[in-house]
Amino acid sequence: MFLWLAGMWATLHAQSGWTAPPEADRLVNPLKNDPQAVEKGREIYMRLCASCHGKTGKGDVPAMQSLNPKPSDLTSDAVQRQSDGALFWKISEGRGLMAAYKNMLSEEERWALVTYIRTLAPQKEESPAKEEKPKETGAVTPEPAAEPAGKAKPVDAFPFTVLINAKTTHFFNPNTFGFNIQHRFGPVKFDEGLWRNFLGLDLAANVRFAFEIPWGERFYFEIGRTRYGKMYDLGAKYLVMQQTSDDSKPVSIALYTDVAVNTDQAPVYSPDATFIDGTPFEFKWYHRLYYDTQIMISRKFSRKFSAQVTGEFIWRNLAPPPMPTSGKGEIPEKNYILAFPVALHYKLGYMSALSLEVMPNTHPKTLPFALAYEIASSGNHVFQITLSNTDRILPQMIFTTPTYRPAKEGLLLGFNLLRYF
Ligand code: HEC
Repeated sequence: MFLWLAGMWATLHAQSGWTAPPEADRLVNPLKNDPQAVEKGREIYMRLCASCHGKTGKGDVPAMQSLNPKPSDLTSDAVQRQSDGALFWKISEGRGLMAAYKNMLSEEERWALVTYIRTLAPQKEESPAKEEKPKETGAVTPEPAAEPAGKAKPVDAFPFTVLINAKTTHFFNPNTFGFNIQHRFGPVKFDEGLWRNFLGLDLAANVRFAFEIPWGERFYFEIGRTRYGKMYDLGAKYLVMQQTSDDSKPVSIALYTDVAVNTDQAPVYSPDATFIDGTPFEFKWYHRLYYDTQIMISRKFSRKFSAQVTGEFIWRNLAPPPMPTSGKGEIPEKNYILAFPVALHYKLGYMSALSLEVMPNTHPKTLPFALAYEIASSGNHVFQITLSNTDRILPQMIFTTPTYRPAKEGLLLGFNLLRYF
């Protein structure tokens, strides 16, 4: 009770000015001048803050003018003069009508807001050296208000390393590692089975777990396990080129390669099985191997829209037939498949997006496509609901397994869960 009263008194007393504690000045903004953080900060700002502080940050929302104190003018010198740490502290702790956002927004999101608020400062002429330095004691990091003009920044077309089934050109913070779960339920059609099998969730499901382990900023390894085929796979991705904000590099380019081994029970072939050319066939361990190599080219076209085209080469050591010799007349499949997946990503809002993938290729019986609705995506995790015509997850299997025909066999629901630790 006493504390509460003391708090009230302190609050009332301090109403005229609001100063963050000196320790706050020592906090260092990890997202300083980061263009992605500016963008993210802007989105959060427009959603949560603009109603009071105004779209431009000037605090000139008419309905708010009778408040005391009024929402601050974030473009003002009084605010811009404060250290990043002080603004971070105020956004976290709040006061009066200004809510405490520390439980509502992650640290990263609050720093993104601070980074964005910096861009609201009226543009100063030229040299930041002329600017007045914060007077508060303890401010350790000098704060140039505006970054030097014309400095190119990296642009990332996709927020995650996997869109739905396709790999993307995205790379993540090398101090973290990624964990993915991709889950596909059974096929459902629009008939009574839709409810009987509860949208396919009752049916057999395929799932792949994978870890992504970075090695520097441009390289990561990936190790995965997929249920169908009891496949283990080992992959690696390398960033060749990153798109930049000044378009001196208009696209991002990445290379990816992966080898998968099927560890399921060996298939049973009749003893007189032959290859299509008649040579006797015997199942060997290397027939279990499947390879995938890709070159991905992506571009972020606007704040909301990104696209990627990929050239992909799949090789399998064993292609059907060989069948038991009765398989005469079978059309032999090739050991290799060329594919040209196209992936599109459209942000609907701060935390949601739509993705679409279509994967034309040279296999006669597959044309994989997938749609996903992304919910609750933030800097380090994403959840997607997917709808597709394939229950395979590894590209090696996606392009070598006939896709479901939507009208006859139905489509499959699924989900992707990606997270960085
Ligand atoms: C309900 C209206 C309201 C909303 C929403 C709101 N604020 Fe505020 N904000 C205020 C008011 C009022 C103050 C002044 C508080 C005081 O001085 O006691 C303030 C003060 C601040 C300050 C301190 C400025 C100074 O004078 O030192 C910052 C920074 C700030 N807000 C940022 C934000 C951010 C970022 C958001 C969104 C996450 C936000 N505010 C959302 C009303 C709001």
